[in-house]
Amino acid sequence: EVVSELLGLSQLGDRLSAHLGVATVIVVAGNSDEEEWVKQELGRACMKEIQAIAKANDVLAVMGGTTLAAVANMAERNETLASTIFVPARGGLGEKVEIQANTISAEFARRTGAAYRLLHVPDQLSEDAYHSLVLEPTVKDILEVIKSSAVVIHGIGDAQRMATRRHSKDLFIETLEREEAVAEAFGYYFDAAGKIIYKQRTIGLQLNELEGKHVISVAGGKSKANAIHAFMKHRPSDVLVTDEAAAKELLQHK
Ligand code: F6P
Repeated sequence: EVVSELLGLSQLGDRLSAHLGVATVIVVAGNSDEEEWVKQELGRACMKEIQAIAKANDVLAVMGGTTLAAVANMAERNETLASTIFVPARGGLGEKVEIQANTISAEFARRTGAAYRLLHVPDQLSEDAYHSLVLEPTVKDILEVIKSSAVVIHGIGDAQRMATRRHSKDLFIETLEREEAVAEAFGYYFDAAGKIIYKQRTIGLQLNELEGKHVISVAGGKSKANAIHAFMKHRPSDVLVTDEAAAKELLQHK
């Protein structure tokens, strides 16, 4: 029975891969909206992909969120990974410290034996602050490391839920509603067609800088299907790690 279930999940992954134009889709059993262990399985499956892809001395850029925290929790000491450097992909996005990209990259490093670098940037950056920060030598230095990353691992969220979680202003939430935003990733908000509606002002990797990097997206739960679909419309990732509930829902999308 276990074998036929695994076969079913890998077929689901293959169908979704063709459907979304994502080269590799890994599907784990269950629905992470409902059960916490499913998120841990997402973490385990994602960690496997990272191990398969990362090469010695690579820079790995990671985003924040509870799913990424689950991935970092599954990291283990590994010879190749121990030679890598983990960095946050982008600066502050208004998340709690436990699930900030900085914290998560340090956790990956602690568990794998890798090095890590932090990026200290306030969440709400004014235009002026943004322009002077990027000129700071220490910031410039780490930005170069981030831009040199070979692998990028990130989560995807529902637009409204993410704006609320970040305590965004009502006016902004209304704008997202009016513009029909459905997805959030990397601090960018997208509509169902994958068009960028808004971009949070913070430094680090910009979406148009992903070219040539190996992008691993990890997101599950039936409630994230619309968001995952929108993000893949914007730009299909190299790898998607998701769960059965999201996968089945995604296959219903045109
Ligand atoms: O804020 C960081 C982030 O990676 C977002 O870009 C993404 O929408 C969200 O976290 C995913 O969070 P979670 O894994 O908790 O659903």
